[in-house]
Amino acid sequence: MKRVDDFRLKFGHKEFVPIMVGGMGVDISTAELALVAAKLGGIGHISDAMVPVVSDNRFDTKFVKDKMREFKYNVANTDKSMVKFNLDVLADATARHVGATMSAKRGDGLIFINCMEKLTMNGPKETLRVRMRSAMDAGIDGITLAAGLHLGTFALIEDHPRFHDVKLGIIVSSLRALQLFLKKSARTGRLPDYITIEGPLAGGHLGFGMDWAEYDLMTIFKEIRDWMVTENLNIPLIPAGGVFTGSDAVAFLEAGASALQVATRFTVTKECGLPEKVRQEYFWTSEDNIEVNQISPTGYPMRMLKNSPAIGDGIRPNCEAFGYLLDAKGNCQYIDAYNAEVALHPEAKKIRVMAKTCLCTQMRNFDCWTCGHNAYRLKDTSHRRPDGTYQLLTAEHVFKDYQFSTDGQVSLPALEPAP
Ligand SMILES: Cc1cc2nc3c(=O)[nH]c(=O)nc-3n(C[C@H](O)[C@H](O)[C@H](O)COP(=O)(O)O)c2cc1C
Repeated sequence: MKRVDDFRLKFGHKEFVPIMVGGMGVDISTAELALVAAKLGGIGHISDAMVPVVSDNRFDTKFVKDKMREFKYNVANTDKSMVKFNLDVLADATARHVGATMSAKRGDGLIFINCMEKLTMNGPKETLRVRMRSAMDAGIDGITLAAGLHLGTFALIEDHPRFHDVKLGIIVSSLRALQLFLKKSARTGRLPDYITIEGPLAGGHLGFGMDWAEYDLMTIFKEIRDWMVTENLNIPLIPAGGVFTGSDAVAFLEAGASALQVATRFTVTKECGLPEKVRQEYFWTSEDNIEVNQISPTGYPMRMLKNSPAIGDGIRPNCEAFGYLLDAKGNCQYIDAYNAEVALHPEAKKIRVMAKTCLCTQMRNFDCWTCGHNAYRLKDTSHRRPDGTYQLLTAEHVFKDYQFSTDGQVSLPALEPAP
C-alpha cells in the first residue's frame, strides 16, 4: 500500500514532499505554519490578504490606524470611492511580511504567497501589481493566484526580473477557467509552474455556484489531466478540497496528480493563526453546522460554520480602515446590504444584516469561521480532554500524518498534559 511519501512533486530538477499547505487569509496560514511545511520538505503558504493588518500584528506598524486617520472624515458617507490604498504602504507591509518569513525559512521546501484577485482594493490592477511585485522583491519562492480568473495578472509582472524564476501557479475549479487563463496569459510567453485544482469541498471561497454539490474533485481533476495530455502540456496538477487523509491524497497521486493542497486539518494546529477559542469551535463542529452561503460580498459562495459571529452581524462598513473588497468604483456589496437595512429600520440602534457580511472586519476579527467540508472530522484527529476541549496538534504532526499514513488512518498525537 502506497504512502504520500512514495511520491515527489518535481519543479525542474528539484523534488519536494507532495504536500502543499494552502493559503488561508487573513493570517490563518501564518508564517510559522508555512515554515513548518518548508522545513519538512513540502510547500507552505502565507497569504497577502489584508497584509497591512498582518504587518501591524507582526511588526507593530500602524498602517491601519494611519489609513483610518486619513479617511476618518468619510466614515458616515455611503460613497467610499475616495478611500484608496497608499501603494507605498502596501509594498512596505508586503515586504515586511514576506521578507521576515523568507529569512526564517529552513529546510528544503518552499514558501509561496496566496494572492486573491477578488481583493480589488478600490484599484484592482495597481494594488495587485504592487502586492505581487513587492513579494517577488522580498524573495518569495512562488505566487499562487487565487479567487479570480487572473486573465491579466501575468502581464502585471512580466517585466519583473524574477518573472521567469519565481514559481507561478493558478487555482482553478474547472477546465474552462484553466483554458481561459492559459489563452490570456500566452502572450507573456510563460506557462504556470503548477495548477491547483480546487474542488467543491474546500474551505474559503468556492469557484462554483450554489450547485457546488453536483461537482466532484476527482472528475474535474481527470478532465483537466486528460486535456493536458491532448495539448502536450506537462504542468504539475495539484488537487485541493476535502483531502483529509494520506490515503485520500494517494488516490490522486496514483491518478497522476503531482501533489495535494490541504488546509482544514491545519486549522487546529498550534501554528495556525486562529484564536484558541475558534480552533475549539472547529474541533466541536458537527456536519450539519457547516454550510455554504452567499454572505461574502465577493459574490463567490463561501463555506463556514453556521455559528460564525459574522453571520447577521450588522456593523457599520469599515472601509476607511480596511476596504479590501471595494471594487474599481469603490463599491462593496456589503455597503448596499447595510444601507438597505438601515433604510428599513431608521430608528434602530443595532441592525442585523443577513444578506452580506463585512468580510474585512469579520476576517480581521476571526469571526467568519470558514472551513472545508470535512471540518466536522477534526474531532477524530486529536484527544478530547475531560473539560470538553481538544488538544491542539502541531503542524509537523499533521504534515507527517499526511505524508506517512495508510489505510485511511489518522494518527493521534502523543497525549499532552492539560494546560
Ligand atoms: C480557514 C480557511 C481559509 C482559507 N482561505 C483561503 C484564502 O484566503 N485564499 C485561498 O485561495 N484559499 C483559501 N482557503 C482554501 C485552502 O487554501 C485550500 O485550497 C482548501 O481549503 C483545501 O481543502 P481542505 O481544507 O479540505 O484541505 C481557505 C481554507 C480554509 C480552511
